[in-house]
Amino acid sequence: MQDTRELLERDRRYVWHAMTGHNPKAATMVVTEADGAWVTDSNGNRYLDGMAGQWSVNAGYGREELARAAYDQLKVMPFYPMIQGHLPAIELGEKLNEWLDDEYVFFYSNSGSEANDVAFKIARQYHQQNGDPGRWKFVARYRGYHGNTLGSLAATGHAQRKYSYEPLAPGFLHVSPPDGYRCIYCDGGGTCGRACALKYAQEIGRVINWELAETVAGVIIEPIITGGGVLVPPEGYVEEVARICEESGVLLIVDEVICGFGRTGKKFGHQHYGIKPDIVTMAKGITSSYMPLSATAVKRELFEKFGGTEEYGRLRHINTFGGHPAACAVAVRNLRILEEEGLVGRSAEMGEKLGSGLAGLEGNPHVGQVRGKGLLFGIEVVEDKEGRQPATAERMGSIISGCKERGLIVGKNGDTTPGLGNVVTICPPLNLTDDDLAFMTGTLKEVFAGSGGERPVRPPVA
Ligand SMILES: Cc1ncc(COP(=O)(O)O)c(C=O)c1O
Repeated sequence: MQDTRELLERDRRYVWHAMTGHNPKAATMVVTEADGAWVTDSNGNRYLDGMAGQWSVNAGYGREELARAAYDQLKVMPFYPMIQGHLPAIELGEKLNEWLDDEYVFFYSNSGSEANDVAFKIARQYHQQNGDPGRWKFVARYRGYHGNTLGSLAATGHAQRKYSYEPLAPGFLHVSPPDGYRCIYCDGGGTCGRACALKYAQEIGRVINWELAETVAGVIIEPIITGGGVLVPPEGYVEEVARICEESGVLLIVDEVICGFGRTGKKFGHQHYGIKPDIVTMAKGITSSYMPLSATAVKRELFEKFGGTEEYGRLRHINTFGGHPAACAVAVRNLRILEEEGLVGRSAEMGEKLGSGLAGLEGNPHVGQVRGKGLLFGIEVVEDKEGRQPATAERMGSIISGCKERGLIVGKNGDTTPGLGNVVTICPPLNLTDDDLAFMTGTLKEVFAGSGGERPVRPPVA
């Protein structure tokens, strides 16, 4: 076992962690091993990772075949830039196209943020080359997250992630998120139906109209808003957004960075709604995070507008590592694992069980709503149920730490929307076992009950 104190001293000296500043007392956890749905820290403590890393280790930890896929590829051909081709990039494109169930072409990058930036560039250039050169704006939703770059952060609707970093890229406009619990069109509380769905979608239509459709290049949505608080849209919303985009000549970009690769119980989240987006962006679960990789999937007819031999008709975008051969090889193997082990269907099944396991929580005076799809859940925590006053930071902190003390890692929608960092997020690996699931729901129930009762039994090490 590592000497944790010494590790932490070195860590504090040399590593600047995500979402942190200088804090000599930071209680950082150094993770040393991981297997299945579980991670182990440098003190030998095991935790069920109810967040699959960063919403991303879809196939679970400890997959030797993924390590081998990278090793085998690195040995044969470690790198060649994507101005030319290589086998893993071709195989991955073919497989992703099959998963998307339409004709798409794939541009590879390293992260979800970059995949979205590429989507914005492609959308603008497409319109220019399609006789619509005035289209450059994008409509997104408050509470949606699309990344950390100056473009993808501009698309993001999280004021707290933008503060101190503005001005960002111009041309990004925001509308209300479809929030069935805090609905601005009805009483809310989770009873939102089609009428509200249409009103939320119409906000997008109205902004397109007010801005002048001829100036709007695209709309970007996540099928379900994830990091912003797991907001499952009311029935009919996504379809109506797609219809409005089509009617206004605006491209629909669907950000599947979290919702993709089985997370919501379908291969991609938008497949719940029977739509075919113009552009789909993906990352995280594409390799189950064993290697950095992302992709911007673009409908073939859009791609064909990018005249390959014209000086400015081509996409003039390049990055060194995007489409790295080892990352693509890992992604191909990862998709095969998801298929062979039926993990997309398992996500749907386990999601049902998780939903029923957590349903009882709604009786708790501090649980406003439990919502989700597949293995993606949010628990909206409140101070008082009737007024729906969001839980305080202290209450949220004690829930998260209560879970961790008991060996369960869950997340929250931190630093997103002022006053609304009150959703506990749950997004475990798709291959978690029945025992893992029971441990997870049992622990959450116990923590919400605030009891000193009997702790749920941890499954033994496999
Ligand atoms: C929906 C969504 N889009 C984009 C991103 C950005 O991805 P990355 O962190 O790989 O840049 C994230 C990251 O969490 C995300 O959740």
